Parts: sequence; C-alpha cells; structure tokens
Amino acid sequence: MEAQPCVLENEAAKVPPTSIVIFGATGDLTHRKIIPAIYHLEKEGRLDAGCAIIGYARRPKTDDEFRAELRQALGEVSRSKPVDETIWRRLANRIYYQQGDLLDEQGYQQLAARLQALPESARFGQTHLFYLATAPEYFGPIAERLARAGLTPLPGSPAPRRLIVEKPFGRDLSSAQELNRILHTHFPEDSIFRIDHYLGKETVQNLLYFRFGNSIYEPLWNRRYIDHVQITVAEKLEVGRRGGYYDSAGALRDMLQNHIFQLLTLIAMEPPASLRAAAIHAEKLKVLQSIALPAEDELLARSVRAQYAAGAIDGRPIPAYCQEPGVAPHSKTETFVAWKLEVDNWRWSGVPFYVRTGKALARQFTEINIVFNRPPSVLFAAVCGQRLSRNVLRIRIQPNEGIQWIFNAKLPGRQAIHEVGMDFFYRKDSSQYLPEAYERLLVDALVGDATLFMRSDEVEAAWGIVDRLREAWDRQPIPDLPLYQPGALGPAEADALLERDQRHWRNGDEG
Ligand SMILES: NC(=O)c1ccc[n+]([C@@H]2O[C@H](COP(=O)([O-])OP(=O)(O)OC[C@H]3O[C@@H](n4cnc5c(N)ncnc54)[C@H](OP(=O)(O)O)[C@@H]3O)[C@@H](O)[C@H]2O)c1
Repeated sequence: MEAQPCVLENEAAKVPPTSIVIFGATGDLTHRKIIPAIYHLEKEGRLDAGCAIIGYARRPKTDDEFRAELRQALGEVSRSKPVDETIWRRLANRIYYQQGDLLDEQGYQQLAARLQALPESARFGQTHLFYLATAPEYFGPIAERLARAGLTPLPGSPAPRRLIVEKPFGRDLSSAQELNRILHTHFPEDSIFRIDHYLGKETVQNLLYFRFGNSIYEPLWNRRYIDHVQITVAEKLEVGRRGGYYDSAGALRDMLQNHIFQLLTLIAMEPPASLRAAAIHAEKLKVLQSIALPAEDELLARSVRAQYAAGAIDGRPIPAYCQEPGVAPHSKTETFVAWKLEVDNWRWSGVPFYVRTGKALARQFTEINIVFNRPPSVLFAAVCGQRLSRNVLRIRIQPNEGIQWIFNAKLPGRQAIHEVGMDFFYRKDSSQYLPEAYERLLVDALVGDATLFMRSDEVEAAWGIVDRLREAWDRQPIPDLPLYQPGALGPAEADALLERDQRHWRNGDEG
C-alpha cells in the first residue's frame, strides 16, 4: 500500500484577508502571470473572500473596463480552459482599478482612501500586499510614496504590509545595495519578497525535497563521487520586443545572476538546520560566498560571451541580434554566456560547475546534470575506456519536469554495455496538478513565507560575483564578439570550454 504523503506545515497555511495592490496593472506581467495566478488561487479555494485586488496604472479606465480586459487576457493564457465563469465573476467582483501615476503623490493618497472605502476593507483592514509589476526604476519611488501615504508597515501593528518586487533587482552590486537601502528604510527585510519565478517551479522546489528527504543521495553528493555539474538555461526565443531592455542587460545580468545562481545554490548548499526560510537562506548565501574567482586573465579564459547572428529556427527567419528593434546596431551585449565556476569549500573543492544560458538556441530547456566519476579502470571501464558512459543524474526543470538517472546496463542479447535511463516524470506520475510558479509564490508572500524568495544578502552576493566578470569583460572588450547561428546551442567557444577539460555539454533530449 502506498504511504500517505506527509504534509509540511506551510502547505495548509491560511491566506489572511488582504488587499493585493498591483502597480503596473495594465502590463504584460499582470495579464499573463499575476491575474491568472490569482484566478487559480480563487478556483482552488485558497483566497479568502476578504481578499480584494486593486490595479494601479496610468491609463484612465473604469473598474468594469479593467475587469473586462483581465477577463479577455485570462481566456488567452489560463492554464485551465475554459475559464469558469462563476469563479471569475466571484473574483471579478473584488477587482478594482485605481488610476494614477507612479510618481504622483496624490495617486497614493487616493489609493489609501480607496482601500479604506472598499467593501472588503472591513475584512482585510490594514493588511496589504503591494506587487511592484513595473519597470525597475519605479521600485524605490513606489516604496517612498507608499510610506508618505501611510501604507508601509506600522510599528507594533499585527497587520502585515508586504512588498513583492519583480526582477531585475538592480543591475550591479551598487544599484542593488542602493535599492535594498531604500526598501529597508520603509519595509523590514521579512516584508520584502524579491521574486525569482524559477524558485516557484515544482522541480526547483523538489531539489530540496530530493536532496534532504532521501538518504541515498547525500553520501554521493560531494567531490569524491561527482566529476562536475552542468546547469543549462536554454531559450529558443530570440530577444524580440525586449530589445530595449535586453541591450542594457545581457545574458549575464538577465539570467545568470538570478536563475542560474539560484539553481546552483540549491544543488551545492549544505543541509540547512531546519526548513525555515532563514536557515535555507543562510546555507544558500554560504555557497555564493564560497565561489572562488581567479585572477582576471583566468576569469576571462573560463567564460564565453557570444551573440546570435542572422539565421532561422525551424524555418522561421531570425534577424541578427544587432538588427533587433531597440538594440544598438553595433551592440556588444552578449545573448549567450557560459562560465566555469568553482565552489571552493570542503564538499566541492575541485568540482567545476559549468553554467550556460542563451537566446535563440535550438531548444527551450532548463536542466541540471550532475555527472559522476567513472568507475575505476578495471573490468568494464578497463575495456571500454572513455566509451563507458559516466553516471548522470539529470534534473529537468523544463520541459517535462522530472528526474532521470543515466547508468550503464547490459545490451540485451549482446555482450555489450550501454547507457540507459530511469525516469521520473512529474506530469505522468502525479495525480495532482502542477501549479504555476506565480501561484505558489503569491500564496507564500500572502502568508509571509520568504523561503522561495531571494534575501537581500543573497542578491548582493550574486551581483558581487557577476560584477567581477562584467568588469573583466569591460576592461578587455573583444573586437569580434563570437557569433552563433540561431538554432545552435551556442558558439563553438562554449564547447571548447569543456573540451579543454575532456568534458562535453549534455544537450537536453539530444544529449
Ligand atoms: N512580462 C513578463 O513576462 C515579465 C517577466 C519577468 C519579470 N517582469 C518584470 O515585471 C515588470 C513589469 O513588466 P511588464 O512586462 O508587465 O511591463 P509593461 O507591459 O511595460 O507594463 C508596465 C506597466 O507599468 C505601468 N506604468 C508605466 N509607467 C507608469 C507610470 N508613470 N505611472 C503609472 N503606471 C505606469 C503601465 O501602465 P499604463 O498602461 O497605464 O502605462 C503598465 O501597467 C518589469 O520589472 C519586468 O522586468 C516581467
């Protein structure tokens, strides 16, 4: 008989009646992610009837116009179709629109008055969650204006007032420190929820359960058994409409500082003292602090930057990055980065972590490959040499979320040995639905659980590492940035980075 699941304490946490104020309420993120997440929480019965949603943006519109816009977007993007009209109507009755400019003090005074006047205010009282779904230059100004409108946490009040901050959180260490300073002036750290939506993904959360909920992996999880680790976040889409933003960011800032470092810390961290947020953050921070960076020339030799050229993916023409709208014609911004990192601590000393991310690549996939040492060179290994595959633990974050063990077995009917895979697929195995990352993260912010959000010192430590490479790149620009064909998996230089160490990239389902 199958054992019943053991439910952890946070799962059943009750969402308190809260006003959820979304700044940037007419934007893409609200339409595509935030409102669908709220709708599904309503559908799952997770939202209290005392939760109201107030959208704040510049363009004038009525509550009904705003609701109609959101309903239309929901119909296009909802993961469960068709939209259940009864549930939508129940939710829509608690959705409101407040017109105002993000820099206009009066807008915040009006927002404060509106909050008090809403029919649900008797239930949510002084409890607010402010979601900053705006361009990052507004994050600080919004916090300051909320404070002047009396909407920031009240000393001694039991009613929480929290802030969700979207990415990017700064563009380097000093801007992240400055943003933290402004936010901390008005909100204590435990009221600030910096989103990295990767942390809301089931398979990413499973890294903790998998590592620390089993006894068979931990003894192997170190330099004695692991040869190296690979982390790939490959995007098939090109830069497209985001050229204006992306050209000032690049792959290093856009993907590596946040998503890849978060995955790396979950793989490399020591067992935390408890499952509480503070204990987990403390261990993740130690990993970032253990990343050893060599002198500049070696740092450059361990990294690859490249840009996609003109080409096609699946017959679809892709312009060269420099020809994308919003991108400078001679831009040197990287759309691909690969980096060999070392976590220089007792567990990982000498084990390289190869990471890479890029746009306009062959496939959309995110995975972590933990590649184990070869067996001693006797028996099969003595005969097969390099042709005997290494054991690999492949953790697929997307698509087909799951875990695969790759090991060697006898080829039936032959006197031969070959690589086979043992698979666990989330979708096939689980009778439960896979919630979207934003659903989980919203609930956590509503109940005040910061485990799956980035703490200020983690963000700053990650920027400190990324800045070192960025500064080295800036000091030694390469006149001819390597180019790669759209639909490839990056430039030849990225393959060479591993070949120098007699290793090769594992390329998702082709790997
Ligand atoms: N879109 C995504 O998938 C995604 C994913 C990850 C992170 N993010 C982050 O989420 C944030 C929002 O992105 P987005 O794509 O939703 O942006 P967007 O589509 O450009 O929306 C921006 C929103 O901000 C509002 N706004 C801009 N200036 C304003 C002002 N002065 N006063 C009042 N409202 C103002 C706009 O309102 P009006 O319509 O009234 O002008 C609109 O609602 C960004 O930080 C982005 O990096 C987005």
